[in-house]
Order: sequence, then C-alpha cells, then structure tokens
Amino acid sequence: MMKFNRTDFKQRNMEIWNEIAPRYHKRWASVNEGPFQSTSKLIELVNVSKGDRVLDLACGTGVVTKKILEKVGDSGYVVGADTSIAAIKIAKKWNGLKSNLDFLNIDAEKFSFSQKFDVVTCQYALFFFPNAQKALKNIRKSLKKTGVLGISVHGHRDKVPFFSNILDVISEYIPDYVPAGTPNLDRFGTKTALYNEVRKVGFTKISIKDFIFSYNPGKFDDYWKNYLKYIAKPLKEKLNSLDMSKRKKIREIVRQNTISYTKKNGDIIFPWQVLILTAKY
Ligand SMILES: C[S@@+](CC[C@H](N)C(=O)[O-])C[C@H]1O[C@@H](n2cnc3c(N)ncnc32)[C@H](O)[C@@H]1O
Repeated sequence: MMKFNRTDFKQRNMEIWNEIAPRYHKRWASVNEGPFQSTSKLIELVNVSKGDRVLDLACGTGVVTKKILEKVGDSGYVVGADTSIAAIKIAKKWNGLKSNLDFLNIDAEKFSFSQKFDVVTCQYALFFFPNAQKALKNIRKSLKKTGVLGISVHGHRDKVPFFSNILDVISEYIPDYVPAGTPNLDRFGTKTALYNEVRKVGFTKISIKDFIFSYNPGKFDDYWKNYLKYIAKPLKEKLNSLDMSKRKKIREIVRQNTISYTKKNGDIIFPWQVLILTAKY
C-alpha cells in the first residue's frame, strides 16, 4: 500500500482540483444550497466592512470572494488565493475584472504578504492543508493586529451523511483509495478539534457556531449517479476497476444507508453540519 507523503498529497490535490473545478463550481459553489448556505453566514460573522482589505484563502472558484467584494466596495481590496489554476480561472471569470481584486496562485502553507489584511476567510479548505498549523501561522502573520479570521469546515463525518454514506462503504471495499496515513478530511469537524487547532497558533476570542443545513440530492438514483459523476478521477478509476458484483453490492449498502433520510416521495433529505469559526488576531 502507498504511504502518505505531504508533497504528493498536495500535488494530487492540485491535480484533482484542476480537474473538478468546473463541476464543483456548477454543482456546488455557485448554488447557494445545502452546505453553501454557509457562504453568506461566514461573511456575516466576520463582519466585512466597506474599505476592508480581505484575503480569501483557498478561494476556489471565487464564490466567497465575490460576496466579499460586494461588501468592501470600491474603497476596499480583495485577494483570492488558491493552488488550483483551473479554479482561479473560473474565479476570474465569475468575478469579472476589477481594479481592487486580484487572484493569486499560492499555497496556503507557503505565503506572506507585506501589507496586512483586516479579514482572512477560508471556506472548506483547512482540512486539505496537510500542515494546517503552517497555514494558520501564515494567516495570522498576514492579519492586522485588529484583524479577524473566518473559517468554515464540514462537520464530522457522522454529521454529514451525504459523504459518510458512500465513503464509509468505499473505504471498506477500497481501503487504499487514499494512501495510508492521509489526514482525515473531517479532522477539524468537531468544535474541540477546530478550536484547538486555531488556538495553538495564538488566535484569541475564538467562537464556533454550528449550523445544520439540509440538502436534497434528489432520489437515490440521482444521489448515486451524481456522486459518481462529481468525484475526482482517481477514485472514479478505482471504483470502475471493481467487478460488477462488488459495485452492485456497494450501491446496495449505500441505498440501505440512505433509507432513514428518505421521504415518502423518494427524495433524500440529508442534514449537513457546518462549523463556522471566527477569531481575532
Ligand atoms: C472545497 S474547495 C473550497 C473553495 C472555496 N473556498 C469555496 O468555498 O467554494 C477547496 C479549495 O482548496 C484549494 N486548496 C487545497 N489545498 C490548498 C493549498 N495548500 N493552498 C491553497 N489552496 C488549496 C483547492 O484548490 C480548492 O479550490
């Protein structure tokens, strides 16, 4: 079995995001549904004001960036930063050319800015940084002493059945779908874990709000079909390499898992926990 390696992990993530960015933007980020109701909440909670300088770290296709830009107005300045060139390309198109907006291709674990920010946001990305401490230290160094940090993360896998219903089964049938030792993507999915990670870096006045959004992926067939359509290529290839009977079995277990979330008309309604943290420098 392959062993986890930070550089490979980041390279693989970059390739994955370059590949899925257009699908991610269309299906998720640009549609303010389910977990993406967090975008407005995050901006409300960090209290972006007119004239602010804001960094949106791991901005992806720029949905948070766009809402921030509306808030800071012409006198403000916004930077969206991400490792995925494909995501940045979409973010540029989605936001349009503005004199007070820049997009930079940077790694959250390796950046610094000479001019400090009033606010740094980071939505659904902290768990992708293998060394989250490094990224948080860079964020803190980039903030003014009066600055505010805002982070959104998905809740623990038990609180996000949209993912766990499928991934728990996949990890049982394809244990090497990620290399051994890969950091869990829900490792900051509890208030305690998220608090501790941010506190260690020195942030103060940490507050974490817990939201339960609901998400309707359609009927079971839609959920299954779309999940497979939107997953990244490496996992898709592993799933496709299984023999038909195994794939059928996985599908059936997942179907059973969704029964308790299925309404009379066949629609699945999943609860989806999101944690939003705010902190001061
Ligand atoms: C789930 S998306 C979130 C995008 C955006 N914040 C949003 O809310 O739609 C995760 C993003 O993290 C980016 N990312 C992953 N690792 C990164 C790193 N080390 N540095 C910067 N960005 C990274 C990916 O390229 C991807 O665009």
